[in-house]
Amino acid sequence: MIDGTEKVVVRGLRNVHAAETRISFVDPNGALYYLGYDIDDLVEKVCYEEVTYLLINKRLPTKQELTEFKAFLVSEMTLPSQIIKCLKSTPKQCHPMEVLRTEVSRLSQYDPEYKDNSEAANKRRAMRLVAKVPTLVAAFHRLRNNQKLLEPSKEFCFSENFLFMFRGSKADEEEKNAIDRFMTLHADHGFNASTFAARVTASTNSDVYSAVTSAIGTLKGPLHGGASEKVMYMLDDINTEEEVEDYIQGMLADRKKIMGFGHRIYKTEDPRTKHLRGMAEHLCCRKSSNLYNLSMKIETVVHEKKKIFPNVDFYAAVTLNSLGVPFEFFTPFFSASRISGWTAHILEQYEDAVLLRPSTKYVGEFGKAFVPLDQR
Ligand SMILES: CC(C)(COP(=O)(O)OP(=O)(O)OC[C@H]1O[C@@H](n2cnc3c(N)ncnc32)[C@H](O)[C@@H]1OP(=O)(O)O)[C@@H](O)C(=O)NCCC(=O)NCCS
Repeated sequence: MIDGTEKVVVRGLRNVHAAETRISFVDPNGALYYLGYDIDDLVEKVCYEEVTYLLINKRLPTKQELTEFKAFLVSEMTLPSQIIKCLKSTPKQCHPMEVLRTEVSRLSQYDPEYKDNSEAANKRRAMRLVAKVPTLVAAFHRLRNNQKLLEPSKEFCFSENFLFMFRGSKADEEEKNAIDRFMTLHADHGFNASTFAARVTASTNSDVYSAVTSAIGTLKGPLHGGASEKVMYMLDDINTEEEVEDYIQGMLADRKKIMGFGHRIYKTEDPRTKHLRGMAEHLCCRKSSNLYNLSMKIETVVHEKKKIFPNVDFYAAVTLNSLGVPFEFFTPFFSASRISGWTAHILEQYEDAVLLRPSTKYVGEFGKAFVPLDQR
């Protein structure tokens, strides 16, 4: 037999263990661990910089290491002037995820350690990307709105700087808390599609920038990180709680997916949802916005009808909207946080040193008679 008809196709690679990892564990029973630490603990007790350090170095930092790491990140929240020039000439209507994908790829051309592919250089490269991706997101937003670019402040923590450089206004205590938790909760999530894409690219021994570029292109899709933006369009479409039932019923009748619901692994509530729901409630309440009540109603109706739960993207959308982030920048904010997980996985993939290359079951034809061009 020439073909692989005996092979079993695992559609969507569901439940396939493609590699071993120590970085994070997505527990189908509704828990998430980074290097063995429960996300519920981390989100209460550590800042995003500690989470990033943990993911990349596989251990929590000491006090001294954290101080140095924070200083390093702030010092690296800069962009080469050539990148800023390119951002300035980018058509304003471009989706920020397309811009991010292109500019991360371009960053490789200005890498200060261009020829060094050692483990240590790749780790430094990973940490520089953690610092620069949020700056890229903030810079495109501000240039697009004809606003001047802002420098990070040594007084602010990393996530606070990101929000400040993006919006131009200082975060208050509650906003500071929300953006830092948002970034912690989005930092990593097992072998999700974008992380897998990054690891496939890294598995060919390609460079860190290429692997991150693959990841950004993958996160952009609405079945993955692109869902949060779509959630907001849905919330925008529904005006009152009374409209929810008919709206959802109509979507389901048309066999459309409700964005921000369902999950490949969790068959119970996503462990990140409760934290994001809480933040969304607080932030909406302060602004006397009805968005939280509307979201809760959608959650109830979708659960009644489909028995599925909101995933990370549902309340992330409400949270970011309350922080003043425009819809199109929701997935870039996700990327600006997931960059720590992506780079941690890229480094782990280099250590594993195996090419990720599945096979396919060929279902096409064999033995066809060739017909020359002039006889077809
Ligand atoms: C995340 C997602 C891609 C997971 O897909 P999956 O693991 O392949 O799950 P399935 O598509 O097999 O879903 C199982 C069942 O739930 C239904 N379902 C899953 N998510 C749904 C959604 N968001 N809206 C409506 N129905 C949904 C499916 O239609 C299917 O029903 P069926 O058995 O009657 O056909 C899917 O839930 C989805 O598209 N969600 C919306 C996009 C989204 O929020 N993405 C962000 C993920 S974090």
